[in-house]
Amino acid sequence: SKKECSQPGRVGPRDGLQNEKGSVIPVDTKVDLIERLVKAGVRNVEAGSFVSPKWVPQMGGTQDVLRKIRRVPGVHYAVLVPNSRGLDDLIHLLDSHPTSPPLTDEVSVFTAATDAFNKANVNMPVHEHLGKLEGVVRKAAERGLRVRGYVSVVVKCPFSGKVDPKRVREVSKALVDMGCYEVSLGDTVGMARPWEVREVVEEVKREVDVSKLAGHFHDTHGTAIANVLSALASGIRTIDASVGGLGGCPYSPGATGNVSTEDVLYALQGSEYQVQGADGKPVDLDAMIDIGVWINGVLGRETGSKVAPVIAPF
Ligand code: HMG
Ligand code: MG
Repeated sequence: SKKECSQPGRVGPRDGLQNEKGSVIPVDTKVDLIERLVKAGVRNVEAGSFVSPKWVPQMGGTQDVLRKIRRVPGVHYAVLVPNSRGLDDLIHLLDSHPTSPPLTDEVSVFTAATDAFNKANVNMPVHEHLGKLEGVVRKAAERGLRVRGYVSVVVKCPFSGKVDPKRVREVSKALVDMGCYEVSLGDTVGMARPWEVREVVEEVKREVDVSKLAGHFHDTHGTAIANVLSALASGIRTIDASVGGLGGCPYSPGATGNVSTEDVLYALQGSEYQVQGADGKPVDLDAMIDIGVWINGVLGRETGSKVAPVIAPF
């Protein structure tokens, strides 16, 4: 029997688009991307962020995106919230647009393993941010929202260098203790090596059950697929990825996109891991390749996936 691995299609519309330069991507394009991903079998997808549009202009239209998606029951359309203001805005939207199913049932909170990165990303040190997030997570849970956590810069920080895995363990544990159902460990700069991923995952596992961990790898130095395999070997079964390799964090200078969904699906084909999509069927690799080519075309470039557009028929 195969080891089930949860679908790597989550972060394209959020991490994938938040860092795009130039004009703001139209709401309809974002909605189209999300609906195409869901059609291809993705069941967890980030629809955007309730962050300051002054800080991240591309996520400014997230309220409209949430309103316009033709929702499919059973799909989690998560949104990122950095602070209580973001959560309050979301709750206000949910209250003023009651739908069945609701516009969303999931938020993601995010913090980092280093103060330097967290200050660049959300303008406060980690301990202060964790203190604030406690209230955010509690309030979200009271509202019936499930909460996912992110820890950024788990291996290297663009401002303070090599990160101590113990620090990642402490921050991950804090997020789980406040009620996050899952914590995604982010190689934000995309420079981690597979052995470094193993090192940090094994350290975090000392205090957090591996079933609550996810891996989130950017691909700046081309090690992301290797890091996915390393995370799987350490027992992680949830991998974040972005169709067409879109993405990057605006506050991580030089970092490139996430590992591409297509490349993860391709690497795992025929392996002991099965990537489950909708109705027990695998996520559709051909459909993902088409989506990656399409969205990168909209953005005026070639797809960032290395298995597309040519895929060998064997
Ligand atoms: P600040 O400037 O310190 O906040 O920013 P403030 O409280 O002083 O407020 C400044 C202004 O922003 C005020 O408006 C607030 O009302 C407004 P003004 O009076 O100037 O008109 N404001 C907001 N507006 C909308 N939504 C909000 C909100 N909060 C305050 N939630 C803040 C602090 C957290 C807002 C800012 O730093 C921010 O928005 N940061 C977001 C950064 C971000 O989105 N980064 C990317 C996502 S994380 C990521 O990509 C990593 C990940 O992929 C994993 C990995 O790869 O590692 C997840
Ligand atoms: Mg990221």
